[in-house]
Amino acid sequence: MNQKNSLGIDLCFKDLDNPMNLFREWFNEAKKTEINDPNALALATVGKNGIPSVRMVLLKDFNEKGFVFYTNLNSRKSTEIKSNPNASMCFHWKSLLRQVRIIGKLSKVLDADADNYYNSRSYGSRIGAWASNQSSLLKSRDELLNSIEEFKKKYPNEKDVPRPKHWSGWNLIPVEIEFWLDGKDRIHERLYYCKKANGEWEKNLLSP
Ligand SMILES: Cc1cc2nc3c(=O)[nH]c(=O)nc-3n(C[C@H](O)[C@H](O)[C@H](O)COP(=O)(O)O)c2cc1C
Repeated sequence: MNQKNSLGIDLCFKDLDNPMNLFREWFNEAKKTEINDPNALALATVGKNGIPSVRMVLLKDFNEKGFVFYTNLNSRKSTEIKSNPNASMCFHWKSLLRQVRIIGKLSKVLDADADNYYNSRSYGSRIGAWASNQSSLLKSRDELLNSIEEFKKKYPNEKDVPRPKHWSGWNLIPVEIEFWLDGKDRIHERLYYCKKANGEWEKNLLSP
């Protein structure tokens, strides 16, 4: 733990110019140590009234373009994103005592990508995407269970359940990423990357 990189912080921060590469390294470590789920993240969005709301989602794709999760496009989160695409993500890997915060703008993934991921899901999950009007009020649990039965009748062939138009993914293109590591006596270590106007990343240490 005494080993430090050129910024004087723990070696686990590496010395990388691109935070996406550092995220990949930390995420791969979390996959080995976090029971469930290393890909769980808190997603904060903001409603038209300026009030934030936060909930957990699962990271389903991560690449140079950004951070992708899937959901219902009529849900509360999607409704908020459509009126304000700015959002914030936060990963907390308890097993590693690490946090990653990401800020950026969300845009919808390509239909072909959403189809690919949707088709990889279980039959029950695909039917659920049809049956659940996510975030809308339910009169009773039976209303949902009946809807599931109806869609099973409509799509009995497990290999042929089309993706609902109201179900897709959002991709967050980051402009800020902060890596946080727990330190003794709360003297934590924070490495903050911010995207400059020319598209390059600038990195700085932040006081804990
Ligand atoms: C660990 C965890 C992972 C979740 N992953 C997702 C997800 O990937 N997509 C999703 O729509 N909801 C997911 N949920 C449910 C959401 O937290 C939330 O209840 C739901 O999306 C409705 O949110 P909204 O009303 O703000 O739109 C997850 C919940 C937990 C606890």
